[in-house]
Amino acid sequence: MNGVIQQDSETLSLKSQNTKMYKKFIENTDIRDKFVFIRNDFNVPLSSDGDITDETRITESLRTINYALDKNAKVVCASHLGRPNGQKDEKLSLKQVAERLSSLIGKKVIFNGESTGPSIDKIKNEMKAGDILLLENLRFNPGEKANSEDLSAELARNIEVYVNDAFGTSHRAHASIVGITKHVPISVMGYLLKKEKEFLEMALNNPPEKFTIILGGTKVSEKIGVIENLLGKAKTIIIGGAMAYTFLKAKGEEVGASMVENEFLEFCKNIMETAKDKGVKILLPVDHIAANKIERNITIRMIKPGEGIPPDMLGLDLGFNTVSIFRKEILESQMIFWNGPMGVFEVEDFSGGTMAVAEAVAESPAISIAGGGDTIAAIKLAGVKGNISHISTGGGASLELMSGISLPGIESLTED
Ligand code: 3PG
Repeated sequence: MNGVIQQDSETLSLKSQNTKMYKKFIENTDIRDKFVFIRNDFNVPLSSDGDITDETRITESLRTINYALDKNAKVVCASHLGRPNGQKDEKLSLKQVAERLSSLIGKKVIFNGESTGPSIDKIKNEMKAGDILLLENLRFNPGEKANSEDLSAELARNIEVYVNDAFGTSHRAHASIVGITKHVPISVMGYLLKKEKEFLEMALNNPPEKFTIILGGTKVSEKIGVIENLLGKAKTIIIGGAMAYTFLKAKGEEVGASMVENEFLEFCKNIMETAKDKGVKILLPVDHIAANKIERNITIRMIKPGEGIPPDMLGLDLGFNTVSIFRKEILESQMIFWNGPMGVFEVEDFSGGTMAVAEAVAESPAISIAGGGDTIAAIKLAGVKGNISHISTGGGASLELMSGISLPGIESLTED
């Protein structure tokens, strides 16, 4: 069973008493009958046919939206979807998000395919208490990414309370995240943002002694900030996935044709030395599942401990010895932060390591925090979602926060 079973944010506040809240929260401001703008992160994954494949980001947003509707607010929701580069792209319209949201809240969501302009002003003027409007994809407007003053002011028109509930986008200084806050009387956190902030800050500022970080995925370069910032705070750093091969090569091991970032070999060497000085354990794979290429039903080879990966092969998953070493460490942890898969888990032959780590994290008594799209997909594939204490809706944002960087979308909110 897992560390935090009650995920109610008030309970969590008590558990992380040292994590001071500095920003105003939606419950601590009067929103009754007011015009409320909620910035959501409805950047949901889409299939090749354009259908929503995972609605977690919508369902996680419902608590704040329903709270505002229950207070008879006039609610304007807004989000981006994908990276349309400041141009309209029908495939990235929020129309189907509006439909999904409408069926989830059981009420009509007004959507007219625009995010600004006279038609939106008209809708806003006609909205009644308890009405909800979803604006079109904000990134169809180049002013969103540019944090444009004009767009910020236009989004803020008539708005009395701004709510940031888009944790996953809070590392972006965009108009609907930062600029808008300068044009509204008060800017507060929604439930989703508050919960994310509390869990991640608890790991960052107040971790228990046996704090383990599990990092995977392809690139060391994407995890540098987290490794540097958490090196003194975590007792163990488990490294898997392709990024492990840069570390293994830096140690002088034969990694064959595995993916390596040669420009980070020096960084890896320094990190391993610093970890030694600080008494932090870095666990790397000791054996591997390798193949000539990434393909289903291809001939695979187990590379035993001490045996190098042959020059024509790539390491694609953890070997069995590694799995049992990682598992033991995970089960003994009190807190876990996990970002990045342990192998090419999308291909069944190379999914064993990631699935085993997901199962161990779920079984561990530790408070477990997982983030990143691939990690969440792996957790779902392993069927252990319900046993992870906190699944972050933000990949990049959670990595930045754990790197010690303050997020502009949180910084710009009103002080409590
Ligand atoms: C995400 O999916 O990480 C957020 O929605 C932010 O999206 P972005 O990386 O395109 O800014």
